[in-house]
Amino acid sequence: MPTNEIICTCAEINKQQIIDAIIKFKTKDIDLVCEKTGAGMICGGCRPVIQEIINKYTK
Ligand code: FES
Repeated sequence: MPTNEIICTCAEINKQQIIDAIIKFKTKDIDLVCEKTGAGMICGGCRPVIQEIINKYTK
């Protein structure tokens, strides 16, 4: 999955922006990642993918 791939189509948030928020806020909390990036706040359909990214980058 390239890092510039759009993860949240509603808010046009890409993978790199999700990763940056995880690192910046040192968090595994999907609600916080969503709040800080604006992803996952509209239809919520991208949340499983956001969770996968969190799982991968917080190991
Ligand atoms: S795709 Fe992310 S909120 Fe809809």
